[in-house]
Amino acid sequence: MTEQHNHLLAVLGAGVMGTGIAALALGHGVPVVLVDVDEEILARAAQDVRRQIRQGQLLGKLPRDAQHPDLLATTALDAVAPATAVVEAVVELPEVKADVLTEVSTLVKPGVPVITNTSGIPVGELAGHCARPGDVAGAHFMNPPYLIRTVEVIRGPRTTDDTLGRTLELLTALDRETVVVGDGPGFVINRILQRMINESARIVHEGIAGHEEVDALFRNCLGHTTGPLATADLIGLDNVVDSLRVLHQWTGDAGYDPCELLLAKVAAGDHGRKTGCGFYTYES
Ligand SMILES: NC(=O)c1ccc[n+]([C@@H]2O[C@H](COP(=O)([O-])OP(=O)(O)OC[C@H]3O[C@@H](n4cnc5c(N)ncnc54)[C@H](O)[C@@H]3O)[C@@H](O)[C@H]2O)c1
Repeated sequence: MTEQHNHLLAVLGAGVMGTGIAALALGHGVPVVLVDVDEEILARAAQDVRRQIRQGQLLGKLPRDAQHPDLLATTALDAVAPATAVVEAVVELPEVKADVLTEVSTLVKPGVPVITNTSGIPVGELAGHCARPGDVAGAHFMNPPYLIRTVEVIRGPRTTDDTLGRTLELLTALDRETVVVGDGPGFVINRILQRMINESARIVHEGIAGHEEVDALFRNCLGHTTGPLATADLIGLDNVVDSLRVLHQWTGDAGYDPCELLLAKVAAGDHGRKTGCGFYTYES
């Protein structure tokens, strides 16, 4: 039998990551309030969450015997009030995250961890917008959250021991393994990965190699399970560009300045897997 917990998780943003995190939580018997500003996205999200739970169970990555509590999908941010933890997974735009976190931090009770899934904005910066900066931590789930078991947890400069403890406890209840790291633009994974994606896209843009050749070299010579450009498609090229901009802004390092090919694909609406086309094409 699956263990029962007394969590109520609020997930902000019903996109790629928000739906995946909701599926992970529901799949472990944790009820979820899923908030987005877009009614259409929310309408699709409920179906997408159910699909991901089924997929997770089929792959043996989510318990088959769990009771799946109801998903409350809403545009009303104040529905987060009773939550025991919040995971913020809205778009990687610093001003949008700042606004949402400011509001949410006044709606939840003191001591409720407000956990950001940002790809690269320093947790300390986001915490500065919150009523209680000590309640804020980072948890960088990978996509899809039910499949990838390890989560990069970020302790911000003001994250309290209690907040870190509650964050780790929630992740343990979701059967995640954690690696705790310090704060900084992109933390560990994205400081390295986003640059690698950008450089790979530059190589394709310069005609030195095609996307398949770049990925084949990483898979077959370096033993990576996916190449950087297939990974970029999975992340979403719009999100990659937003993350690169954040990293560029915070580090001043030109290596993070999004390359022309990435910008052109995003402008054309080719955002990767989620739109059916990025570096590769996908069947829906
Ligand atoms: N895609 C990935 O692989 C990945 C991995 C780790 C972390 N992240 C991070 O997770 C976050 C979400 O990324 P994503 O890929 O799910 O993006 P996405 O574009 O798929 O979804 C973002 C959602 O946020 C919603 N939104 C925008 N403003 C909002 C607001 N004020 N309140 C509530 N919802 C709002 C949008 O309507 C959209 O549905 C980003 O910070 C991203 O950097 C993404």
